Amino acid sequence: MSDLRITGLSKRYSLPTGPVLALDGIDLAVPAGSFTSIVGASGCGKSTLLRIIAGLEGGFDGSVTLGGRPVGAPARDRGMVFQEHRLLPWLTVEDNVAFALHGRPRDEVRERVAAHLALVGLSGFAKAYPAQLSGGMAQRVAIARALANQPQVLLLDEPFGALDAMTRIGMQQEILRIWQAERTTMILVTHDIDEAIFLGDQVVVMSARPGRVKAVLPVTLPRPRDRSSTHFIDIRKRIFGEFFAESEQAFAYAI
Ligand SMILES: Nc1ncnc2c1ncn2[C@@H]1O[C@H](COP(=O)(O)OP(=O)(O)OP(=O)(O)O)[C@@H](O)[C@H]1O
Ligand SMILES: [Mg+2]
Repeated sequence: MSDLRITGLSKRYSLPTGPVLALDGIDLAVPAGSFTSIVGASGCGKSTLLRIIAGLEGGFDGSVTLGGRPVGAPARDRGMVFQEHRLLPWLTVEDNVAFALHGRPRDEVRERVAAHLALVGLSGFAKAYPAQLSGGMAQRVAIARALANQPQVLLLDEPFGALDAMTRIGMQQEILRIWQAERTTMILVTHDIDEAIFLGDQVVVMSARPGRVKAVLPVTLPRPRDRSSTHFIDIRKRIFGEFFAESEQAFAYAI
């Protein structure tokens, strides 16, 4: 397992209206096996950051290294889960997971598919099609697919954003269980501050235009975390404080 290190990362897009500085001098250390949550206003560059780590986006300044080596094109050491599950509708659940394992020996594929469907609690749905699953189940298949190659880093871009509140809380517990079982380094982008605190060893707060790291708040509470504990509420207040620096209303809302 290797540490991920982001140093002086900047990314500029050229739009017809002029250049957009999506990311500006991002520095971030992500220890191997840790859980990092990223929050920030819409458009602050969270997806851009994950896409760069995944290797889906090039043409940036600065460096992104995994185990001291620059990350390159998408590879099996980095898995990604998006807000929408992106499963192939014409393949069964097991074939969707197997698809990620293309090129590996058949026995190994069968074993890994079974192990990862078990990991996300969907062994009984191996032969189902994506259309026969609930939103939460489909996201669990997407997580199994992303983990099937046993990546060092799992990148989660608002994976629970489209789920209802109760399913979402269930999925947070699921991802916590999976992280504790696998010890994969996880980086989660979320709009949900409680989710960020519930899961993260550190919560990265980003500011928009240009996207910068505003604060990195360590969360040392033991897991599973009690969302109503004084310490949890205190961290929530601090994050809201970072978002709305001088707004007293935000503090009131956070409580
Ligand atoms: N392919 C692209 N071409 C041009 N500009 C882009 C592209 N992708 C992102 N941007 C710009 O970069 C900035 C950051 O976008 P990004 O999608 O990373 O934000 P985000 O924080 O993920 O937002 P959201 O919370 O809404 O998902 C935005 O100003 C956006 O317009
Ligand atoms: Mg995004």
